[in-house]
Amino acid sequence: MTRPVQSPEQVRAFFDAHRTVRQYVTADGQPIPLPPEHLDVILHAAQRAPTDATAQLYSFVRLTDPAVRARVAELTTNAHIATASEAFVVCADVHRVRRVLEVAGYAPGEWPAIAVHFGIGDAVMAGTNLLTAAEMLGYQGCWIGGVLNGLPGIVELLALPEGVLPFAALTIGRPAEDTPYRPRVPRPLVVHTDTYHVGTDDEIREATEIMNPIAARGDRPGDWARLLNAYFGAGGGMEKREPVLREVMAAQSVGWPDRSPVT
Ligand SMILES: Cc1cc2nc3c(=O)[nH]c(=O)nc-3n(C[C@H](O)[C@H](O)[C@H](O)COP(=O)(O)O)c2cc1C
Repeated sequence: MTRPVQSPEQVRAFFDAHRTVRQYVTADGQPIPLPPEHLDVILHAAQRAPTDATAQLYSFVRLTDPAVRARVAELTTNAHIATASEAFVVCADVHRVRRVLEVAGYAPGEWPAIAVHFGIGDAVMAGTNLLTAAEMLGYQGCWIGGVLNGLPGIVELLALPEGVLPFAALTIGRPAEDTPYRPRVPRPLVVHTDTYHVGTDDEIREATEIMNPIAARGDRPGDWARLLNAYFGAGGGMEKREPVLREVMAAQSVGWPDRSPVT
């Protein structure tokens, strides 16, 4: 099979044009639907993602009802879920594979850690394919880890059965804002050759300098370490999300087999 080939410059230019976009072109505040053939091909791209063990341990919930969109926007604290042309909740899903086994007369095994490993992996690969396909059509989008801000409410609202765990939401639309090209950590700290390279303090400081602009807000200069501290530092946002995620993982039987408190 032959496939169209692009030059390295074209591939670089395509990925350099990626921007996370949070404001979309609307019709008086209402979402402008994607043409059916665009929607069809981005969903096709999602389903063409490779998958471990042939299992496809993921599901998307496409949000179409304005009331559901509005509620998910509220629960995730990401308003653009209500206005994007398309919005999805991307989930790890081990419910369906258990059903396939049961319907065929087999007993499903016990593998809660594997469920997280493959379920999130499959969900991310499919979601990435969808976003990349949308970008190929000229749209931009935004992943929304903010689902962790309202996880129990989202599980209930979307009627997610046991075995289905939201990973993130994903919005797609025509950009209605100019967004900056956001930096990345220097390659030697991310791509290791043969053995892991532990960064020196100087390399980490240099990486932090390079990343600082990603944390700039308005006229305020960026401070990446401060931003990361607000998320991942002691008393930060992730510590608040942790017990809720464990609780929902236990309730959904994905990856957190007991309800022991966070220590
Ligand atoms: C898994 C994931 C979750 C994210 N969650 C949010 C979110 O909840 N809200 C938001 O506005 N952006 C979110 N983002 C977007 C990131 O902030 C963005 O990708 C990052 O700042 C890099 O910017 P760029 O994609 O424009 O290069 C998320 C991205 C990923 C991959």
